[in-house]
Amino acid sequence: MTKDTLHQKAAAKFREAFEREPAVAAYAPGRVEVLGNHTDYNEGFVLSAAIDCGTCFIAAPTDGTTCRLVAGDLMEMATFSAERPTPSRRHSWANYVIGVVAGVGAMQRRPKGFDGLFLSNVPLGAGLSSSAALEVSAGMALSALHGVTPSALDLARIGQRAEHDYAGVKCGLLDQISSLFGEPDRLVMTDFRSLKVETVPLGTDAAFLMCRTHARHALVDGEYNARRHHCEEAARHFATVLPHPVTALRDVSWAEWEQHRDGLNPLAARRAAHPIGENDRVRRGRQCLADGNLAAFGQLMYESHESSQKYFENSCEQLDAVVAAARQIPLVLGARLSGGGFGGSAVVLIHPRDVEVVSVALQKAYQKVIGHPCDIRAIRASGGAHMLDVTAPAAAS
Ligand code: GLA
Repeated sequence: MTKDTLHQKAAAKFREAFEREPAVAAYAPGRVEVLGNHTDYNEGFVLSAAIDCGTCFIAAPTDGTTCRLVAGDLMEMATFSAERPTPSRRHSWANYVIGVVAGVGAMQRRPKGFDGLFLSNVPLGAGLSSSAALEVSAGMALSALHGVTPSALDLARIGQRAEHDYAGVKCGLLDQISSLFGEPDRLVMTDFRSLKVETVPLGTDAAFLMCRTHARHALVDGEYNARRHHCEEAARHFATVLPHPVTALRDVSWAEWEQHRDGLNPLAARRAAHPIGENDRVRRGRQCLADGNLAAFGQLMYESHESSQKYFENSCEQLDAVVAAARQIPLVLGARLSGGGFGGSAVVLIHPRDVEVVSVALQKAYQKVIGHPCDIRAIRASGGAHMLDVTAPAAAS
């Protein structure tokens, strides 16, 4: 489904649900993490991209403080107060938006209600940040509706806070920043300490396949938070043994990790190795892109996946099967898990001319090992979140 079709459908559903015209509409894409796994909350580096699917959020103002929110796929409505945006037990899907309402409300003198509807073509639970796409599109649309003007980084933080406080995931800012700052055919390079965001050209010889495994670890959020906890514990340890300041694992080199890991609890030491190695790989990966050396970049993706397997233990049988299958196909340049891990999707780097042949070969090899197919789709690095012309779909339909 194209972005325009998504917008048209969302607008039609808005009219159906509320029997009135929408006033604002915003679109925010999902993301793929290309290199740099679990480095964001360790104040490190990530290369990522916004992708060519996303969420459309449409809204209109109301007089009071009541918010009526409709999930466009289910046509189910959640109702809550803009003044007291507390998490919903009944409609867990609404909590990301309720969290955003709290964030946008904090910027208003008096929080106001709205009628809102969202519709997405980001697959859920696929590790493509459908939740960030929802938070960012809601944040943009509701800010415009209520006349507040958060910066892009403010919007990213509002989304992150919604995850922390309303969904219980202590995530970094990667998903929201990628969704906001994506550009067509470029990767987003973020320094998560300075929050300096730039984009680097991907070149015309690179394409990505996303292989969605349908595996989802039952305790995925708890596992994520546990990884973060170990990384922070490790950073505190290195701060006591290194001669220079350490506020996050970003400040620890591989050599320092090797030298001082023994004083640390072995599990935290192993976990810390992953973001430390990843930071180094992102820096080298960036250079590979500048040199146009996609083969070397692809090797770093394979190394990243090995590090996930060996140190962070955030892969799973299905993700390993995709990467192992990719390694057997000479046309593939690199592959790794993308995002939090424990299921979700793997990203595979290929030449655009090889999309068909690699997809078929990957599927065959995956099915042989796992017994059923995975979803494989070619994705494009795409533009970031933006407002939509609210009148366009009505005119087009
Ligand atoms: C999830 C989180 C991000 C980031 C990645 C792993 O997508 O939401 O903040 O930590 O996992 O790199």
